[in-house]
Amino acid sequence: MHLRFTSPGEHEPGTVFSLLKQAWAPLWNSVLEEKIRQFDREVTEHAATVGACTFITCLDEKPVGMASYDPRQKPEIGIIGWNCVVPRHQRRGIGKRQIQEIIRIFRENGIRKACVTTTDEDFFVPAQRTYESCGFAAARRTEDTNIEYELELV
Ligand SMILES: CC(C)(COP(=O)(O)OP(=O)(O)OC[C@H]1O[C@@H](n2cnc3c(N)ncnc32)[C@H](O)[C@@H]1OP(=O)(O)O)[C@@H](O)C(=O)NCCC(=O)NCCS
Repeated sequence: MHLRFTSPGEHEPGTVFSLLKQAWAPLWNSVLEEKIRQFDREVTEHAATVGACTFITCLDEKPVGMASYDPRQKPEIGIIGWNCVVPRHQRRGIGKRQIQEIIRIFRENGIRKACVTTTDEDFFVPAQRTYESCGFAAARRTEDTNIEYELELV
């Protein structure tokens, strides 16, 4: 399986939106749509910041997933953001490879701890398993059913 992590600028505008829309289809609603549209806009309009911290994963040159991160609290913390794999290509190890790529980038930048938040709902069980499989442990549960995962990198 040949995976390549590419810059959003190499793809048509809206590619990030389309990937996220496919992966989030079971939960789709107008609020989620606006959030994802907003993120997609930021990736394009702020190519040197948000866009540079977002990659589109290509399998045999075709976009199949994406992942993003926020390094602004470095070196203490790096936060993993939007990430997904389109349903057709899930459960092939791609989601895990994306998170491992972000962990690699964090280490390269001297970041000491990786953090990611997901939700304690059935839809997010694959995300929970993916983070656990990459070594993350649940550090906190919040009242709004979020689970905050952490991974020490040093
Ligand atoms: C989360 C997501 C990116 C995972 O992508 P993926 O390519 O299917 O994941 P992988 O194949 O790399 O699997 C990673 C691990 O999770 C496990 N896993 C994946 N899907 C699972 C499922 N439905 N049930 C149980 N375990 C699952 C795999 O077995 C693997 O564990 P292992 O390494 O111990 O064998 C994908 O399911 C997705 O896009 N979900 C919707 C969007 C989302 O939730 N994004 C994250 C928001 S916080």
